[in-house]
Amino acid sequence: MKKNIDKYKLPKHLAIIMDGNGRWAEKKGLKRILGHTNGVDSVKEIVEEVLNLGIPYLTLYAFSTDNWNRPKKEIGTLMNLLIKSLRSEFEKLLENNIRLNAIGDISALPKSVQNEINHVSEKTKNNTKLVLTIALSYGAREELENAIKNILREVKNNTISMEKVDQSIINKHLYTRNLPDVDLLIRTSGEKRISNFLLWQIAYAELYFTKVYWPDFRKKELHNALFNYQNRERRFGKTSKQINI
Ligand code: IPE
Ligand code: IPE
Ligand code: MG
Repeated sequence: MKKNIDKYKLPKHLAIIMDGNGRWAEKKGLKRILGHTNGVDSVKEIVEEVLNLGIPYLTLYAFSTDNWNRPKKEIGTLMNLLIKSLRSEFEKLLENNIRLNAIGDISALPKSVQNEINHVSEKTKNNTKLVLTIALSYGAREELENAIKNILREVKNNTISMEKVDQSIINKHLYTRNLPDVDLLIRTSGEKRISNFLLWQIAYAELYFTKVYWPDFRKKELHNALFNYQNRERRFGKTSKQINI
């Protein structure tokens, strides 16, 4: 069956848990790191297609707070890969009007990675076609913990009154303060879990799980996910009849 994507029913914010790089490599008898390098090619292809389709927000889970518990060598290679990719893709981001946005505890990253992120974010900050958010050293519970601490501080300083603390104030204290809620969340590799990603922001997201490992997740797989998304009914608590009037 041909899957025609309806350009008028695209998610505004697509988020992806890019999982399965290691297993992809192991299945082929390769080192895990080769899974990560091939995963970068998937990132490039997906960003390009998201841009072509006109989806304005793409958020990629690249490194979680818990990923710090991996072997030092794997962490080191991932960090190097990150710097290399940011350098090699920088011109493309500029040319294609893509803004780079990093979320997570960026201060926990090696200084060299921080410098590269700051440089690319600063140079692309006025770009408007696509906001490409990379979650690095990211944990949703840590994000909420930070937000709560900052709100409490503001209440204590009388910058804000407790009565004013509502969902929109909470939103404004998250790393994702400038992003809309997630419409579609994709996780590759067959795992059906969230792994501490965007807990607040996915309240009404449609979830899509595929067995495909991230390095094999390319344009066709993205189209499958979008087609699936477009054939769902998002009711936000209402009845089907209310949605279809
Ligand atoms: C996702 O692939 C990339 C990161 C978490 C950095 P994995 O490295 O988790 O691959 P698997 O899940 O072990 O196959
Ligand atoms: C989630 O993948 C984090 C990223 C994709 C960056 P993990 O491979 O770390 O998650 P678990 O350990 O399977 O839950
Ligand atoms: Mg994994």
